[in-house]
Parts: sequence; C-alpha cells; structure tokens
Amino acid sequence: MKNVVVVGAQWGDEGKGKVVDILAPHFDIVARYQGGHNAGHTVRIGDRKFILRLIPSGILHEECSCVIGNGVVVDPRAFNAELQELREMGVECEGRLVVSSRAHLILPYHVALDRAREERLGVNSVGTTMRGIGPAYEDKASRCGIRAGDLLYPDLLREKIRSNIKEKNLELVSMGAEPVAPDSTLDEFLVEALRLKPFIRDTAMMIDTATRDGKSVLIEGAQGTMLDVDHGTYPFVTSSNATAGGAATGLGLAPKKITGALGIAKAYTTRVGGGPFPTELLDEHGAYLQKRGNEYGAVTGRPRRTGWLDATVVRYAVMLNGFDALALTKLDVLDEFDEINISTGYRCRGELLEGMPYGANVLAECEPVYETLPGWKATTSRTTNFDELPPAAKDYIRRVEELCGAPIALISTGPDRTETIIREGSPLSAWMK
Ligand code: GDP
Ligand code: IMO
Ligand code: MG
Repeated sequence: MKNVVVVGAQWGDEGKGKVVDILAPHFDIVARYQGGHNAGHTVRIGDRKFILRLIPSGILHEECSCVIGNGVVVDPRAFNAELQELREMGVECEGRLVVSSRAHLILPYHVALDRAREERLGVNSVGTTMRGIGPAYEDKASRCGIRAGDLLYPDLLREKIRSNIKEKNLELVSMGAEPVAPDSTLDEFLVEALRLKPFIRDTAMMIDTATRDGKSVLIEGAQGTMLDVDHGTYPFVTSSNATAGGAATGLGLAPKKITGALGIAKAYTTRVGGGPFPTELLDEHGAYLQKRGNEYGAVTGRPRRTGWLDATVVRYAVMLNGFDALALTKLDVLDEFDEINISTGYRCRGELLEGMPYGANVLAECEPVYETLPGWKATTSRTTNFDELPPAAKDYIRRVEELCGAPIALISTGPDRTETIIREGSPLSAWMK
C-alpha cells in the first residue's frame, strides 16, 4: 500500500504544486482534501506555466485520476473556469476528475460575507483571499451548508438556498454591506453549479475500492501547517485542517491507510496576509528575497512577506504531520547571500522558547534567535545532483535537517520539473518506484 500526503510545512506557497507534479506519475490517484480555490499551485513545464487552484496538480498527467474530496469547498464558477483554462491549454479533465458529493459548495453570499468581515476587521483583518472560504466552512460546521450532492435534488436545493439567502442578507445588512439579490443570485448560481453534476461521486467509496485493488493515492495538501485552523497562528489562519490529519477526514480515508507524509518547506520563509511572522525581514534582504524569489501570490498577485528560515516552524510541522522527509524548495534564491540566517528558537518575555508558543499574540512578541551560516555565493540553479552543490549549500541543507528533525529528500533548485535533486535511498525515492 502506498498513500502519501504532501503538506506545506510553513505558511503556504512552499512549492507543493511542483513537488506533487514530480511525484504524480508514480501514483494512480491524486486527491485534494481541504481548502478551495484559495490555493494556487504552480507547475512549470518548460515555457508553459499552469496554476492549479481547485483541481489537483496530478491532472497534468494523463494517466492520473483526480479527486476533489469531501473536505474541499468548491466554488462552481471557479471550478468551471479552471476546467476551461485547462482545456485551452490542452488538458482534458472529463472522465478522470471527480468531486465528492459531500464537498460543500461556496455560494455568492459566502464571498460577500468574506469581504464584509474583512472590511469590518480593518487593520486587524486576516488578509483572506476573499474567495468565501471561511464563510463556507462556517456553514458546514453550523449545518446549513449546501453540498455538491444536493445538486441531485434541485427542488430541495432551491428551497435551502432561498432560506440561506434570507439569513445571510440579514447578516450582510447588519454589517453595512450590500445584500445579495435573491432571485438572480440563485439562478446564476444554479447555471454554474449544475455543470458540476457529471463529476459528482461517492469519492470515499471510490478511493476505498481503488486502494483495495492495489492503487496508490497521492494526497495534495493546500495552504500549510501554520495556516491550519487548529494548529496554525489562529486567528490568522485558513478555515480547514491543512495538516496531515485533515487528509483522513477530508477524503474519508482511514488514517492507517496513509503510509507516508512529505513536508514541503522553502529554504527561507514567506507569508501572505496578516498575522505574526517572527523571522520577517523588512529590510533590503527581505526585498531581495521577494524579487529574486518572485514572491507574489499565484492567486491574488499580492506580494508575499519574506524572511529567514524559521526552524521552530518546520520542527513544529514535522511533529504535527509526522513527516518521513522534507522537500526543500527555492534553494537557488539564496545563491547570492554572503551570510544566511536560520532561526533556531525564540526569545519571548525574557525566556528562551524552543517550541511553538500558544496564540498569535505571544508569537508576535517573539524575537528569533539566529544562527548564521556562510553563504555559498555560487549558482545552484538547475543543479540536479546533490554532490554538485557548493559545500556551503550542502552544510546549510544538513543544518536544516538537524534543526528540523527530518531528512531532506528533495531539493528544488528552480521552478521547472527538471530543476530538482532527488536523494537516493530516501523515503521519497522509494515512493517514486
Ligand atoms: P504552492 O502553493 O505550495 O504550490 O506554491 P506556489 O506555486 O504558490 O509558489 C511557489 C512558487 O515558486 C511558484 O512560482 C513556483 O514556480 C516557484 N518555485 C518552486 N520551486 C522553486 C525553486 O526551487 N526555485 C525557484 N526559483 N522557484 C521555485
Ligand atoms: P497554497 O495552497 C498562502 C492565507 C491567506 C490568509 C489566510 C486565510 O497556494 O499554499 P482564506 O482565504 O483561506 O480564508 O485566507 O490564509 N492563504 C494562503 N497563503 N498559500 C495559500 O495556498 C493560501 N491559502 C490561504 O493569505 O492569510
Ligand atoms: Mg500557492
């Protein structure tokens, strides 16, 4: 049995799309288990660039089947738009993509609520992607959500949506926001949503049958550990469980069937949106990382905040997700530095902390404790062999392994598929057999 979950070890955008694309040919199914089109997973193949938002990155491999699991929130308009974009780029999804009947749908009122809440929070806003993700998960938890399977019962569906619109409009108006127009909202939503019908399946059952038949599943996480609603920098988080445990509930896959976990970490750190970020660099080094790393959101185009690698964050991610190995991406972005810092822990209220403190307010007060390593001042771009890396780059990688407590099995030295080092004898090389 081989079912491996790929999870972001920081605040998202670690390069999950690239790594999933590399692993996908060695798996039968690629599945998303949480999040929605707040994700933006970039895959670069030569001069072609794909940005997958809702559809698993495995779709780029013809032999892979793709699953959008019950834990994902699906905006039908975004789903249709992505299908169309892929079609225009020569990728057909029909026949090899399915959506769980239990996946909740994002409706226009969720988007309006996301915006209204963020506006009301002002300077304290989360900095959401404004895709309606949080409000859709709220409805799921409060038991008034609309699920993909409801599309099979249109009369009941209309009734539920009408009643929800009434409730949501009261809330929108109370926040000083525009209500949504009941009739046109419903009609326009149904036109988009009904196009989802041919994709709807009992995906948990499908995956169960497939795994019994010896098929393997690559489970593609979105966001990252520090954006997990339970374990991240709450309240500056997304609204789902991005950590590995979410894969079991978000797919209906028994935990004991998940046989491996791979963490993806950048060789430095980035974060989009609000919230504490202890190693953030607000100086010229930060600006350099942003420029050289092309750190702009794949979905929203927002500039990403940048900083040094935070070993406390990655160590915490190793603990929570039980990573068998890490993939370290964007090593090439550090090529020019004279010296490189890694935060080994925090100093907070006069105390030295090694673990992750509770709460965004405490983390905001933490000062990183840095260890400084020499830079390598040589190009690692496009390197595909570990032995060919400059000695100082190898030392950096070994130190990251020590500080984070997991072996680094893949090193990414550029955005393209080919710009990758796979370490022989690692768990990852075994998954690629
Ligand atoms: P994801 O959300 O985790 O899939 O990551 P994103 O796609 O949002 O962001 C990662 C960005 O870094 C994308 O633009 C990738 O093309 C790019 N990228 C991935 N790996 C590397 C690398 O090793 N070096 C460089 N320079 N860029 C990379
Ligand atoms: P991928 O999968 C980085 C961030 C938003 C915001 C917070 C909540 O590409 O790594 P939401 O819209 O989810 O309610 O926003 O989470 N966020 C991400 N940051 N990468 C992502 O996805 C993200 N998805 C959400 O910026 O701070
Ligand atoms: Mg991204």
